[in-house]
Amino acid sequence: MANIIFHSNTKTFHLYNHQISYIMCVLENGHLGQLYYGKKIHDKEDFSYLVEKCGRPMTSYVFEGDRTFSLEHIRQEYPVYGSTDYRHPAVEILQENGSRISDFQYQCYEICGGKPKLNGLPATYTESDDEAMTLCVVLYDKVTQMKVELFYTIFEKGGVITRSVKLYNEGTRPVHLLTAMSLSLDLPDKEYVWMQLSGAWSRERHVKNRMLEPGIVAIDSMRGNSSHEHNPFMVLKRPNADENNGEVIGFSLIYSGNFRIQAEVDTHDVTRITAGINPAGFDWKLEPRESFQTPEAVMVYSDTGLNGMSQTFHRLYRKRLARGYWRDRPRPILNNNWEATYFDFTEDRLVEIAAKAKECGVELFVLDDGWFGERNNDQAGLGDWIANRERLPRGIKGLSERIEALGMKFGLWFEPEMTNKDSDLYRAHPDWILQTPERSASHGRYQYVLDFSRKEVVDCIYKMMYQILSESRISYIKWDMNRSITECYSAALPADRQGEVFHRYILGVYDLYERLTSAFPQVLFESCASGGGRFDPGMLYYAPQGWASDDSDAVERLKIQYGTSMCYPISSIGSHVSVTPNHQVFRNTPLHTRANVAYFGTFGYELDLNKLSEKEIGQVKEQITFMKEYRELFQFGTFYRLKSPFEGNETVWMVVSEDQNTAIVGWYRVLNGVNMSYSRVQLKGLKADTLYENTQNNTENYGDELMNLGLITTDVTSGEVVGDAVPCTDFESRIYLLKAKEQ
Ligand code: DGJ
Repeated sequence: MANIIFHSNTKTFHLYNHQISYIMCVLENGHLGQLYYGKKIHDKEDFSYLVEKCGRPMTSYVFEGDRTFSLEHIRQEYPVYGSTDYRHPAVEILQENGSRISDFQYQCYEICGGKPKLNGLPATYTESDDEAMTLCVVLYDKVTQMKVELFYTIFEKGGVITRSVKLYNEGTRPVHLLTAMSLSLDLPDKEYVWMQLSGAWSRERHVKNRMLEPGIVAIDSMRGNSSHEHNPFMVLKRPNADENNGEVIGFSLIYSGNFRIQAEVDTHDVTRITAGINPAGFDWKLEPRESFQTPEAVMVYSDTGLNGMSQTFHRLYRKRLARGYWRDRPRPILNNNWEATYFDFTEDRLVEIAAKAKECGVELFVLDDGWFGERNNDQAGLGDWIANRERLPRGIKGLSERIEALGMKFGLWFEPEMTNKDSDLYRAHPDWILQTPERSASHGRYQYVLDFSRKEVVDCIYKMMYQILSESRISYIKWDMNRSITECYSAALPADRQGEVFHRYILGVYDLYERLTSAFPQVLFESCASGGGRFDPGMLYYAPQGWASDDSDAVERLKIQYGTSMCYPISSIGSHVSVTPNHQVFRNTPLHTRANVAYFGTFGYELDLNKLSEKEIGQVKEQITFMKEYRELFQFGTFYRLKSPFEGNETVWMVVSEDQNTAIVGWYRVLNGVNMSYSRVQLKGLKADTLYENTQNNTENYGDELMNLGLITTDVTSGEVVGDAVPCTDFESRIYLLKAKEQ
């Protein structure tokens, strides 16, 4: 049950479901105040005691003759700067006379079942009106005649509230939006650890923590893509919260471009969270009668720690953000040729790789970069989406037919947003790249970013992609994006609209995704940006899975996948087994460990299986058989993190089936030791009274034993190898399969 109550006497809104309450009221000055967000509490007509008015030296006050009402001290929902509040605002509007002050007063509200769509932007959705309720609060600034609609959707299940904002210019003069955040939330204290997912190329989404203190903490992107550096996701957790206990709030922005998530703790320890499009460089001109829609932000409250929060995000993003044919389908096991061949392949060589993969049980063969134009290396060809006939004499059509004749599906790589100067596309349209007049255009990997803010550019790429997709037998697309934007400027926009380019670019990307996924609804899309440079919820709306990182080393992947799982469902995490020595860190890890990590994702191979020994091929066949049997559990089961790779030598995580009858535990140890401690790990999510058979060590235990005493993970070879035990080495791992016994 989700409900939204409006108490008209006190002008108080109470959004609640069985887990959470979110309470706001109209303040004395007409602005919207924030009263409470947290675990569900009783409804009451009046919560006005939560408006903490006070007079303090150096405070400025709103009303003549009154020394109590200051926005500096009052918690708000969509604050402005400069009219007694000195903190960073949620909205800032530059007006023709140069003023940036606005005064958004409550006008009216509307409540409806379900959730309205966000035009042109990815967002969560409902499939029936009783899954959620939406409140729209309308605010109005009479000087600028700007209207703001604040949308709040509370879902029936889980501690989820989504927020977005629509701004309308109802006046007669243009204005410039300089800040238009999707979410602003003032919390009454600062006793939180701020947790973010940060990193770089090949070490994406590492967990980083710090205690909040007065001042500003922020993560953002100014690269045009959400970035490898910071994911548009942040958690506030109480210092005593952990994976399974305590209060945490997760904030996630459904956006793939420049974003900012910020906490500003003021001197009285009030914490203001804002999330939305990065105000740095943003300047959106809004003509009379035009409107602007912000991206959607999602807040998840959990009082069962990080696992509780993640499970809510997983369910929501898997079921009500991802869409289409593949949403609920187990993902095909694929073999991608990139690390097998790089640019060095012929049609026959590809077929040879695919044939071996087929023999092992692989279902989908993916041809990566290098199949088009003059793409013999990374210096040419991007933008010319026509097969290179020297390599592929029968084109993509011919190759895809050969692959299908083997009994496999065929997938293809594109990098639609880019061009090389050495390409027919660039030669024909040199003004189609983002570049600033009279300045040199920087490159990344010899490539330039197409101006996707222009419809004709998106149309042209769509046409080329449509042609190939419709004439060939393509079941999967890997959509790559290998550089960030520099010298951002569009030749097609006037001077006073250049601050719109970054956002218009992303809208163009979304538009192309929308057109292609609508035209080819059964094609599985995987997003990618040099690995995980755009692994964000915006992409998930179009592509239900994403290549999590170019780093396919099993040890590195523990951290990457652990961090990624904080917000993103296992079914979205592209993870493959690759060769050793690994191509990114040159490490040798056992084949079983590489698979044991990759199972917790979409699973596939990034190598030429012809190069493996007979023994290894035997192992690969077993891995594929195992994954086929359990992939629904891996990808759609309830996921628990049990031991963190950021805190020690061992990582443990597990998935549990919906009926709790089957569970798989992944146990990983980076370095071997000698004569090590006895070790056990307390499992989660099992049925206490059910007896589970453990097929790894042929034991039987009740759920309550496994969850309270724990699963014994001691290494029996630690010290001395007794009997026929196989000695463990570095990078060891085990999969424990637990099955409820029929009783
Ligand atoms: C970067 C991707 O992350 C890789 O998987 C591969 O597709 C290359 N680009 C190809 O250029």
